[in-house]
Amino acid sequence: IHTFHFTTSWKSVQIPGIPQNKSVITLNGQWPPPAIHVNKGDTVELYLTNGFDDLTQTSLHFHGLLQTHSNIMDGPSMITQCPIGPGSTFFYNFTVNEQTGTYWYHAHNGAQYGDGLRGPFIVHDPSEPFTYDEERVVTLSDLYLQKYTKIQDEFLSRYNPTGAEPIPQYSLINDRLNDTIHFEVGKTYLLRFINMGLFVSQYIQLEDHEMTIVEVDGVYTKPNVTNTLYVATGQRVSVIVKAKEVNPHKNFAMVQVMDETMLDVVPDDLALLTINQISYNDNYKYPQNPNLDVEQMKRNSTNDFYLTTHKATPLLDHYDRQIVLDVRMQNLGDGIKYAFFNNVSYTAAKLPVLTTVLTSGKLANDIRIYGDNLNAFIFEPNEVIEVVLNNYDTGRHPFHLHGHNFQVVQKSPAFHEDETFPDEDQDKMTVPYNESAPLMKMPNLPILRDTVILEPNGHVVLRFRASNPGVWLFHCHLDWHLQQGLVAVFIEDPFALQEHEELTDNYKDVCANVGIANRGN
Ligand code: C2O
Repeated sequence: IHTFHFTTSWKSVQIPGIPQNKSVITLNGQWPPPAIHVNKGDTVELYLTNGFDDLTQTSLHFHGLLQTHSNIMDGPSMITQCPIGPGSTFFYNFTVNEQTGTYWYHAHNGAQYGDGLRGPFIVHDPSEPFTYDEERVVTLSDLYLQKYTKIQDEFLSRYNPTGAEPIPQYSLINDRLNDTIHFEVGKTYLLRFINMGLFVSQYIQLEDHEMTIVEVDGVYTKPNVTNTLYVATGQRVSVIVKAKEVNPHKNFAMVQVMDETMLDVVPDDLALLTINQISYNDNYKYPQNPNLDVEQMKRNSTNDFYLTTHKATPLLDHYDRQIVLDVRMQNLGDGIKYAFFNNVSYTAAKLPVLTTVLTSGKLANDIRIYGDNLNAFIFEPNEVIEVVLNNYDTGRHPFHLHGHNFQVVQKSPAFHEDETFPDEDQDKMTVPYNESAPLMKMPNLPILRDTVILEPNGHVVLRFRASNPGVWLFHCHLDWHLQQGLVAVFIEDPFALQEHEELTDNYKDVCANVGIANRGN
């Protein structure tokens, strides 16, 4: 059992390499928040106290953990719990049963985690299907200098009619501007990359060192050699890297490049490329001007559609229920740009959806009680669900599902800016998904993950079995799009949920504290 007592607070810090100060969210006064390391089968007891001296609310999500029989611990505000108000404590208590690998935790309340309330969550596994001498966690993120509340308010206002997403000022690696990873001659390393950013995907390339992908999103893969990674927000990729066998007498670059296609405009002073160091000896020169062709690098990144899981997981070869979600960004006539699944831009309900499920008895299976604004779907026990995402938008979106690893069974190829699909060229348009003429061959052993990229004007098709009762969020992990409503709510086997879960006193107190009444019990 790992017990944590965390209290949040604001603090102005100087992030290494960044000239301006930044107001961040600390846990017990510490920033960055600690990495949590557990073993498979361990229990986590985490008391999160809201210690903010303003009105900021909070909540914590453990990204990628399935929370089997512990849906109530999943964390998203107004989905599985009320936000935690100032002075209040929510008790997160769950066991990590089946899963191993690389995860992370983050606030799930507005764009709050952008101000630093996030950290790695690693589940160690004594029987990993690969070997190495040492491991290093490498976090990637984007940094906004202003407070998230201010950015969020301006973003979702009439003064931003085009819905242009806020542009970050910096890319961070391990919560600094530049980082050094130490290698010893002859050793093998596991590098766990986690994109904990709010918005921008990052490319990673190591100079003169090969990477072998062995894990994505907590799922072991067949080893796959690559020289470039593409990591979207929410995604994790772990690679094995072999250090040089003999002293190279130099250090090497680890290059991190923002995916600029996601930015509305690229400000002149924004550094898209950051050079970090793989150091064999700190007396050697810091690597400079690595010889690399960024455009080529982008083409070299491995397409996860072609990865295979280490333990063969056969294709779910049919579906019982298909959900088609058309992604569009548009205005509702009030000057603010919203994001839509079909024609609905998610707006939070007045009660957490889980509260509604647990207090509605037999009605919990009636979609009408959830209203029209949640994009809610109810799944029967053990149905195979197919989710089709059609992107009618020209942006790239990483979609994340809570409570499941899904199979990626169709995916439009990566879009490169110099290969535009002209509107009149219908053949190359990959929207909408055409089931009778799929773009790619269905994989026999599809990759499983919890966050997948939907390409501009492309589609992606996912399958999973509804075998985990819960209220699970499905959303774009670009936090600005989450704010704009690119969210669906999957309510899986509500009656089983009513049997497993109860609204504890702590849960009810947290709600009462922020003034959200508990209907029923
Ligand atoms: Cu990483 Cu709904 O979250």
